[in-house]
Amino acid sequence: MLYTKIIGTGGYLPPRIVSNDDLAVQLAEQGLETSDQWITERTGIRQRHIADKGMTSSQLGTQAARLALADAGIDASEIDLIIVATSTPDHIFPSTACLIQDQLGISGGAAFDVQAVCSGFVYALTTADALIKSGIANNALVIGAEVFSSILDWKDRGTCVLFGDGAGAVVLSKSSEPGILAAQLNADGSQHGILCTAGNVSYGEVVGDPFLRMDGQAVFKFAVNALTKSAQNVTAKAQLELSEIDWMVPHQANVRIINFIGRKLGMPTEKVVVTLDKHANTSAASVPLALDAARKDGRIQAGNVVLMQGVGGGFTWGSVLARM
Ligand code: UT7
Repeated sequence: MLYTKIIGTGGYLPPRIVSNDDLAVQLAEQGLETSDQWITERTGIRQRHIADKGMTSSQLGTQAARLALADAGIDASEIDLIIVATSTPDHIFPSTACLIQDQLGISGGAAFDVQAVCSGFVYALTTADALIKSGIANNALVIGAEVFSSILDWKDRGTCVLFGDGAGAVVLSKSSEPGILAAQLNADGSQHGILCTAGNVSYGEVVGDPFLRMDGQAVFKFAVNALTKSAQNVTAKAQLELSEIDWMVPHQANVRIINFIGRKLGMPTEKVVVTLDKHANTSAASVPLALDAARKDGRIQAGNVVLMQGVGGGFTWGSVLARM
């Protein structure tokens, strides 16, 4: 039987770290009140990495891709598919995937972006898995890359404290050993308004509101219910029990959401990878960054069963269950 396996991971964060205290000072200059205590208690976030102006998702994604290729021990020339999950592409077009292909010095394979906001990585991973299993590709780079700081309204304390920038990447390869075991993707477009950037660029002008807006409480409730069911469904699809999952690598939006889901699934907190304290919510980059962190510090080992989950604007959500 043909499988696809994750054979390497990489993560890259822009060097500038902004702590909650730094942000409180920055917002106070604009007459807005926030505090390390509020942000930590409500979200678990303590700091985020912020890209300098001009730094792009393709630059962050290329760095993460290079690290993932080195980890996999394969040359970029062996990659015949690049899928980038991003809501902050460098341009409307060409795709960020094409720009990363160019920065890696390769050409000829397929390259395209996936737009599923914070679920983007699990959508991209599932797509790459299907393209490899169907014989269309052999070795894929799946990348989540975001400069979310560029779409935040830095005068909206309800959203600007939540996000950060970064990129995570995995190399996925054809294998005779079990790798990706099951996946489930979902969307409910009727909920598009609870998390969106409604504006656009048209006829040379920004039309409408260009910033991220969110009904935090609606997103919170939706995320908990959707991801709990999604985890149950994908585990059943793989004919596994929830107790057989070694690691949960959830989207890193809010530690309270992660804890709620963990409790509903009976998942001990020691089995849940949390990086949002250091990275904040990096949207499509959050899952591959967390996966890479837990592999590199030795928690996730070869043979472990890992549940990856994304949830975000659209509304979209999904789960991928993989044996590493
Ligand atoms: O990746 C996409 C997925 N996104 C998410 O999963 C986010 C989901 N939602 C959340 O994580 C939470 O809803 C938030 C962290 C966004 C908000 O937490 P909350 O417990 O739902 O707070 P709230 O929106 O009900 O606000 C409580 C209070 C309000 O003040 P009043 O009306 O009670 O006086 C806010 O104005 O906290 C105020 N507030 C703040 N105070 C200090 C909102 N933002 C801040 C802030 N600092 N940064």
